[in-house]
Amino acid sequence: MQYLKLNNGVSMPVIGIGGWSQKKENIIDALNVGYRMIDTAAQYGNESEVGGAIRDFGVGRGDIFLTTKLWTQDIREHRVKEAFEESLNRLGTDYVDLYLIHWPAEGFENAYLEMEKLYKEGKVRAIGVSNFEKHHLDALVQNGASVVPVVNQVEIHPYFSNSEIVDECNKRGTVPEAWCPLGGPGSSEMNDEKIQGVAEKYDKTIAQIILRWHIQRGVAVIPKSSNPERMKQNFDVFDFELDSRDMDIINELDCGKRLGAHPDNFDF
Ligand SMILES: NC(=O)c1ccc[n+]([C@@H]2O[C@H](COP(=O)([O-])OP(=O)(O)OC[C@H]3O[C@@H](n4cnc5c(N)ncnc54)[C@H](OP(=O)(O)O)[C@@H]3O)[C@@H](O)[C@H]2O)c1
Repeated sequence: MQYLKLNNGVSMPVIGIGGWSQKKENIIDALNVGYRMIDTAAQYGNESEVGGAIRDFGVGRGDIFLTTKLWTQDIREHRVKEAFEESLNRLGTDYVDLYLIHWPAEGFENAYLEMEKLYKEGKVRAIGVSNFEKHHLDALVQNGASVVPVVNQVEIHPYFSNSEIVDECNKRGTVPEAWCPLGGPGSSEMNDEKIQGVAEKYDKTIAQIILRWHIQRGVAVIPKSSNPERMKQNFDVFDFELDSRDMDIINELDCGKRLGAHPDNFDF
C-alpha cells in the first residue's frame, strides 16, 4: 500500500473503496482484500452499513481511514455540527478521518468554518472539500478559512482528466482525489482500444492501467466495486509503473467528457 502525506501530516492510503451503493457485506469483502480507506457520505444512506462492516470485520478503528461528507441540504440549513453528529452516530464511531463538503452549495464558505471547529476540537483528523473549482477554493480563503483543505475529491477519469483543477490543487497543497476514477458504471473508457493496447503491454487489465495512471499523477483513487475479484484486481496496482509514453497515451484521451454535474450548476 502506498500512502499520501496530507498537508496536516496525516497519512492517507492512495487507494480506497468507493462506498456509493455498497452494502455491509461489500465493505467487509473490501476489508478482506486489504482496503483500509472507505469513502462514504451522509447522502449515500449507508453510513450504518459501513460502520457495521468495520465493527464486524474486527479491525482496529485506528487502522481504517474513514471519509464521510456533509450533504448540500445540511449546508443550506446551517446544520454542520448536527449533521456531523448524525454521521458519527450512524457510523458508530467517535471521529472520522476525513470530513468533506460534498458539493459547494450556498453557504459552503461558512460551513467550512464550522468544519474547522470540528477539526480543532479533534473530532475529525482532517477536513477537505469535494467538487470545488478554483473559485470555490478562493472563496474559502476570502471568507477567512485558516485550514487548507487536505483533499479535493472531484470527477477525474481518462476522458475527463480535469487537469486544471488537479494542477490548482497541487499548487495549494491539496491532494486531488478522483471520483468515478474508472469512468463510472458502464464506463466507455473500459472499452477504449488505446488503453487496451497499454494493458496488453503490461499484462494488466484496463482498470489497473487507469488506476495506475491516476496514482502516477499524484491523484488518490476510490474505485467502487461490489465484486471481490474486481476489488482485488483494482487493489493490485503497486507492482508496475507506466512509462512516460504510456502515461501520455492516456493523457491524450482527455475529451472533456464530464459524467456528473458541473460544480457551478447543480440542482441538488
Ligand atoms: N464526491 C462526489 O461527488 C462523488 C460522486 C460520485 C462518486 N463518488 C465516490 O467515488 C466512488 C467511485 O465512483 P463510481 O462508483 O461512480 O465509479 P467508478 O469507481 O469509476 O466505477 C464503478 C463501476 O465500475 C465497475 N468496476 C469496478 N472495478 C472494475 C473492474 N476492475 N473491471 C470492470 N468493471 C469494474 C463497477 O462494477 P462492479 O461493482 O460490478 O465491479 C461499477 O459499475 C463512489 O463509490 C463514491 O464513493 C463521489
